[in-house]
Amino acid sequence: MADYDTHYQTEDLFGEPYPELIDFFKHYEPKGKLVDLGCGQGRNSISLARLGYKITGIDNSKVGIDQLYTTSKKEGLYVTGLVGDIYSFDSYQDFDIVLLDSMFHFEKRDIKRETNLIDKIAKRIIRNGLICICIQDTGQKRKILKDAFANSGIDFDILNDSTLTYNYEDKESGYKSKTKYCMYIVRKK
Ligand SMILES: C[S@@+](CC[C@H](N)C(=O)[O-])C[C@H]1O[C@@H](n2cnc3c(N)ncnc32)[C@H](O)[C@@H]1O
Repeated sequence: MADYDTHYQTEDLFGEPYPELIDFFKHYEPKGKLVDLGCGQGRNSISLARLGYKITGIDNSKVGIDQLYTTSKKEGLYVTGLVGDIYSFDSYQDFDIVLLDSMFHFEKRDIKRETNLIDKIAKRIIRNGLICICIQDTGQKRKILKDAFANSGIDFDILNDSTLTYNYEDKESGYKSKTKYCMYIVRKK
């Protein structure tokens, strides 16, 4: 049983996608094939499929992937869901866009594994492919993220480097929080 299986008993646990992320992808062309690594219940996948992107969502929570499928089937959206480990995923050549939202934390014990994954994606994504990463904007995280791209030795255009506010609400307890997030979107030259 994956860590998030229990958490996902709560519907739409993470709420709405960031309006800035949706706005960026609404205006971006072409609307290609996007892989959402760690898609969870499909907070971003579903909204992006509604915009016309062809989505593959990968998560190790079967509960999350089942919910993604249920919603996308109801609406007839172009969504494929795969239960799997994003660190084993290797088919970057099949996608125009790679999205990772709230997947990196850069804690001491994780930093090498996480920056190695950024390096792998940077190297394997196709030319003109987009990488969109959203992380909590605290401490050195934004710098670590940018350094990981710089250290890959691959040239990218930076299309977006912004600060967002993530509004979270626990529907059961009414608890609300606002967290600063960084959205970083690059395109391989
Ligand atoms: C904080 S949630 C973010 C979910 C989604 N990206 C969003 O922003 O709504 C982290 C997600 O990553 C998944 N996850 C964590 N490690 C994973 C791994 N190694 N492979 C696949 N999924 C993973 C969890 O099951 C969970 O759904």
